[in-house]
Amino acid sequence: MDYLKIQGNTKLQGTIEISGAKNASLPLIAMSILAKNSVVMKNLPQVADINTLLKLLSNLGATFSFNNDVATINTSSLAQTKATYDIVKTMRASILVLGPLLARFGHCEVSLPGGCAIGQRPVDLHLKALEQMGANIEIKAGYIEATAPNGLKGCEIIFDKITVTGTANIVMAAALADGKTTIINAAREPEVVQLCEILNNSGVKIDGIGTAVLTINGSNKELLNIPKFTIIPDRIEAGTYLCAGAITNSEITLTNVDASHLGAVIAKLEEMGNSFEITQNTIKILPTDELKPIKITTQEYPAFPTDMQAQFMALATQANGVSIIEEKLFENRFMHVSELQRMGADITLNGHTATINGKTKLYGTDVMATDLRASSALVLAAMVADNQTNVHRIYHLDRGYVQLETKLKNVGVDIKRLKEDAI
Ligand code: EPZ
Repeated sequence: MDYLKIQGNTKLQGTIEISGAKNASLPLIAMSILAKNSVVMKNLPQVADINTLLKLLSNLGATFSFNNDVATINTSSLAQTKATYDIVKTMRASILVLGPLLARFGHCEVSLPGGCAIGQRPVDLHLKALEQMGANIEIKAGYIEATAPNGLKGCEIIFDKITVTGTANIVMAAALADGKTTIINAAREPEVVQLCEILNNSGVKIDGIGTAVLTINGSNKELLNIPKFTIIPDRIEAGTYLCAGAITNSEITLTNVDASHLGAVIAKLEEMGNSFEITQNTIKILPTDELKPIKITTQEYPAFPTDMQAQFMALATQANGVSIIEEKLFENRFMHVSELQRMGADITLNGHTATINGKTKLYGTDVMATDLRASSALVLAAMVADNQTNVHRIYHLDRGYVQLETKLKNVGVDIKRLKEDAI
């Protein structure tokens, strides 16, 4: 296993190019199951989760090529429809193949993803919606066994909770269903918007894109011709690097980024004292010498994203005053707190609310990553901590950040990736 060795008291300068969005790429790769043509996608990020889903598809018989950031996926030779536990357990978003496989083949078996570090993360809403569309769902020995011998039928679906991959799964199932499906309380994340836009450009008429009410007019099992597309920039990667500029009081510019996807994040950074110069596809952060404390509640898009919670907690340790962060989406998304405390952060937890007293001096030490976004929070803290920090178990980081250490090294961070036995 690798770890990152980071020397603290860093100043950054220069530009960071943002890669394609992991959470847009995953449903778009699953969407290729709905296509009769080879699907060509550009700006696909080279991260572990993408490789995992491509491997899952190839295990089902699909073929793909993935060079630089362009992937071509052909599912015409897709021969079996069982997504096995060995793959699904490593990447819960594998559940995204459920809707497309069922819609196209009328049957599939997908391992229940199980929980993960940040929470139990059930998929009950995905399953209930598919049953409403006419599927028969049984859970047997840890697998979802789904059949729809007469195909899926469009209907009205009301999601009890807003679910990002749940919305994506049902949009894709509805794309091949017979008739119209209306999803009420749909997720409005930019990643869901792009999926809908591409399906809409592929002949599946979708109304309400970007709103909480989506109407999908299905093709009645007619496979789709999906035109080439470019994946949107990763707004969470971008937000993470904006926090890197803010926490080190450095002026850096992000390129290949869409600021319209980062409204809540930029607003909170402005509240903390930072300012920005924004163009069509760049964001320059102009930091402040003194960060103001902040109050954050994580909610669904377009409100403040849970995937930026850990990064802002690291930032809040350097603000002068008391910050409050409430995590409302996941039941266990504070695992970075104990590691930040070991670095000297003054954080107290009360249920789903963290109180961060700043500004505190952080000290470099050995810390352990526990999940994807917690890992990036530890990297941010390490950049302002005294001396050296070793961030272990960075396979979590590799799931969602393209060449993080290279991008940070290029803007001045003293960061090295080493093998654990090198300590
Ligand atoms: C997506 O996860 C993202 N992953 C997550 O990003 C992100 O944190 C999350 O949305 C919230 O924005 C991908 O897009 C691949 P949800 P998802 O279904 O779809 C509950 C990252 O760091 N729920 O929107 O799994 C659920 O427990 C990852 O990139 C049910 O109860 O999240 C949670 O409390 C981490 N039943 C809430 O809804 C269901 O059937 C939101 O979950 C589905 C969800």
